[in-house]
Amino acid sequence: MGMRIKNHIVMKVLDYIKEAGCKDVNHKHIYENLRVFPCNESDIKVTLQVSPLSCKFVKPYELRNIKRDSIIQDIFREPKGSNVSFLVEKSQFISSCLQEIQTLSFPTIPKERIVIDFSSPNIAKPFHIGHFRSTIIGNFIANLCCFLGNDVTRLNYLGDWGTQFGLLRIGLKFLEISEEQLKENPVQKLYDAYVKGNALADNSLALYQKAKEEFTSLERGSNPEIMASWAMFKQYTIDDLAKTYKRLNVNFDQYSWESDYAAFKIQHVLSRLIPLASERDNGLQVVVLDNGKEAPILKSDDSTLYLTRDIAAAIDRYEKYNFSAMLYVVDRNQAEHFGSLFKILEKLDYPWAKNLVHVQFGRVRKMSTRKGEVVFLTDILDQAKELMIQRQKQTSTTKDLSFSNSDDLGISALIVHDLKHKRNADFDFKWSEVLKFEGDGGLKLQYTHCRLVSLREKVDLSLPSQCDPSVLTEPEAVALVAQIAAFDDAIIRAYYSLEANVLVHYLFQLSNCTNRCLKVLRVKDEPPDIACQRLLLFHTAELVLKQGMKLLGLKPLDCM
Ligand code: ARG
Repeated sequence: MGMRIKNHIVMKVLDYIKEAGCKDVNHKHIYENLRVFPCNESDIKVTLQVSPLSCKFVKPYELRNIKRDSIIQDIFREPKGSNVSFLVEKSQFISSCLQEIQTLSFPTIPKERIVIDFSSPNIAKPFHIGHFRSTIIGNFIANLCCFLGNDVTRLNYLGDWGTQFGLLRIGLKFLEISEEQLKENPVQKLYDAYVKGNALADNSLALYQKAKEEFTSLERGSNPEIMASWAMFKQYTIDDLAKTYKRLNVNFDQYSWESDYAAFKIQHVLSRLIPLASERDNGLQVVVLDNGKEAPILKSDDSTLYLTRDIAAAIDRYEKYNFSAMLYVVDRNQAEHFGSLFKILEKLDYPWAKNLVHVQFGRVRKMSTRKGEVVFLTDILDQAKELMIQRQKQTSTTKDLSFSNSDDLGISALIVHDLKHKRNADFDFKWSEVLKFEGDGGLKLQYTHCRLVSLREKVDLSLPSQCDPSVLTEPEAVALVAQIAAFDDAIIRAYYSLEANVLVHYLFQLSNCTNRCLKVLRVKDEPPDIACQRLLLFHTAELVLKQGMKLLGLKPLDCM
């Protein structure tokens, strides 16, 4: 994608800087700071953001002295800031871009082994919007890391442990929920039992005590019968969740459970951890962190906490996956938890502790579904689908609508509405905003994709083997080429910032440029050489749009 051109400029800049005697700048450094912009109707501009480059030897204005050649036609310093722009020879740029992007490959990124912990809901508690955000942000990050050739493990770490689970067992007994009923609707039934157990214990200290004891017995792993029934709940829950993940087009390589790190299974970790801890009056063992905060790791009855299990899980995962980085995609409210986790692992002298990252995200406000404020993910998806069907009924001109794509359309709208925000920003959720068709959104991306597919299917032409830039001269065509060429900038910026919104906004622009071209550049009934070149342009736009949508976790549709 103009990669050749980009690389050409990177090499030129690198040579120039090296000649000036500066050694501490490398190819990657410059490549990442080079961005492609459409300049005006006839020029294409590639801009180097110089600030991170500033080194002792080369000042931005000196870069203007780089020699012009057949690709670099002019070099000038931006009036604002210190950036330097390279004016690129247009036809070289167009043919290089349309030809090279067909492979969609990124050779310059160093490959790593990355573990991503995402989604990670809890048994019996609602799969709330925070888990939904984690699911789609984590899925995007995993897709992106994979796309760039990293070795990625997608991990779902489910919460099935803690005193609360004693309460859940009490609720299950009280409501006399049969195994059959549980199997049928595990998420709802376990939630009902959990709510009941909590309500009962609120009014009875004895029951609360009993719940604690139940959990302590679970932690000791001494009752095989209880462990077996526990395994069953988990299986039902996973089976049920799998349906939702399938709907969302999200996969995991590994499910793991907090109960995998129950006290009786992690004695080896506890024996290293306890010497770091101090005991408090209430019997709690705490690790005192450098900032003076105390992080509890063991209760007086020797049962573990969320933090303890995360410590053991991280150690276990490092042994299993030997990762170069592990990302936890979890909402911002848990910042303190992850801060403590990383510090304790450092105190335990694990050198890889510095490669753990809490990928935080903000809160969604005002979310509700028809069923009320307690939001289950399936209710959100169902409502999106239903609203889509209503819309399709209102707007369609054909009678035999199958609605087979309503679910995917609803989900596209939900995902894009979420990912278009900066990860850490809080935002309001409004159904009218999510499902709007006008303006930029998931439905617009799908619509543009469908138009490109339909154009390709309708014309009876094959793609030209060579690009002929002399035919693609209209400003709309040039703008679309430049937008296509900016794909790798968007990908790399999204990768280093782990921000999906970079890619989402890129795709909005791509879609808008494409629609402008579809308006003015006809393919049908045009002379074959023009038609073929336009087809190549639209085909390339389709490839990039499709790839971008897939990275976001959307299923690109062929018709809507
Ligand atoms: N189950 C947790 C929750 O819902 C999220 C787990 C995130 N992952 C982790 N390794 N702590 O709050």
